[in-house]
Amino acid sequence: MQMPKRAATPQQLTDVFFRHMVGNMRNGVLAIARDGAVVLVNDEACRLFALPPGPTLVGQPFADILRKHPDIVRVLGGAFEMVTLPNRAELRLTSTDTVIGYTLSLVRDEAGATVGAALFFKDLTHVEQMEERERLRDRLAAVGEMAAVMAHEIKNPLAAIEVVAGLLRRKAPQSDDVQALVKDIISEAKMANAIVQEVLAFVRPVRLQVDRTSLADALASAVVLADGKATRGSILVDMALPPQLPLLGADQHQLTQVFTNLLINAYEALEGRGRVVITATVATTAAEGALLPDGHQPVATVVVDVTDDGSGMTPEVADKIFNPFFTTKAQGSGLGLAIVRKIVDAHEGRIDMTTTDGRGTRFRVTLPVEPHKHATHH
Ligand SMILES: Nc1ncnc2c1ncn2[C@@H]1O[C@H](COP(=O)(O)OP(=O)(O)O)[C@@H](O)[C@H]1O
Ligand SMILES: [Mg+2]
Repeated sequence: MQMPKRAATPQQLTDVFFRHMVGNMRNGVLAIARDGAVVLVNDEACRLFALPPGPTLVGQPFADILRKHPDIVRVLGGAFEMVTLPNRAELRLTSTDTVIGYTLSLVRDEAGATVGAALFFKDLTHVEQMEERERLRDRLAAVGEMAAVMAHEIKNPLAAIEVVAGLLRRKAPQSDDVQALVKDIISEAKMANAIVQEVLAFVRPVRLQVDRTSLADALASAVVLADGKATRGSILVDMALPPQLPLLGADQHQLTQVFTNLLINAYEALEGRGRVVITATVATTAAEGALLPDGHQPVATVVVDVTDDGSGMTPEVADKIFNPFFTTKAQGSGLGLAIVRKIVDAHEGRIDMTTTDGRGTRFRVTLPVEPHKHATHH
């Protein structure tokens, strides 16, 4: 005969509720017993550490299941020895290149004896990337401000040099020597003036004229403009765009500028021969590369790749390419990519680069189909 089922006791209800709460937490939780056996591991922890589902792990030694994450093994392993536990620490999981913030606590029983340790943690990768971009923006603002002041200061004496040289030319109409020298002075002054103008164009805040913009049109204009500004030689430009690209909320003129600068760099890296491939895709999920403006919810995004099979870059060069005035070219201004970054930022987009020295380079521009605010970027 079966016993009638009894209602759950308050204690049982609490236990079940507690299990569900921990299981569904948006923070990772991993707890071990004194002997090192895993007692509890929730879904988020399994996701972050790329582990199989929790129940199969319980009872196993933590050092075994986490062997791919030696950093975590070290932290957990030290829990029982540490005099004071870190309040809030961060570490990078070298295995998956994820940054986590964590706190470590000891689990004590009613008598105060240490029976285990628990690690609570959160994925900070996204936060860290945002901070990194923030720092870059600050640096750009500081350098830009200085450059603007210098450009303004240089403009006046430059104009004066041109005027004085003109006077000198009239003073000695007979002397061919003087005429030739003065001509040089004026042409050099004009060149300096062109550089000053480019600097001022760079430091001026980006004001967007946002409209329904066709990416295909912007790319087509960019190819024409780049052909006029750099030597194309026998370089092939291969453009593969899907037929149904949505119109973007973007500044047509400035978007064209972005791709013009990228194409000019690609041509220069190819030195007259090779191939540039331009592709575009629409992304709607984080996995496809869609932007997450609020950190959680993906928005419709267009991903444009400009890939060349040119010189590529060394890691040292790759580190600095977005810095204003950084150039490896004798005649370079080093402002092309700084301007690109500024315009992409103003569109609330992203720009990423991957390169292999000697093999080629890919620039990836990621733009929201609809930017939120049409802010002014300095
Ligand atoms: N497609 C590319 N391939 C190789 N190197 C590149 C590429 N694009 C940019 N670079 C590197 O980045 C540097 C900065 O580029 P940029 O800001 O456009 O300035 P500039 O073209 O005037 O040098 C270049 O000098 C070059 O070293
Ligand atoms: Mg350039």
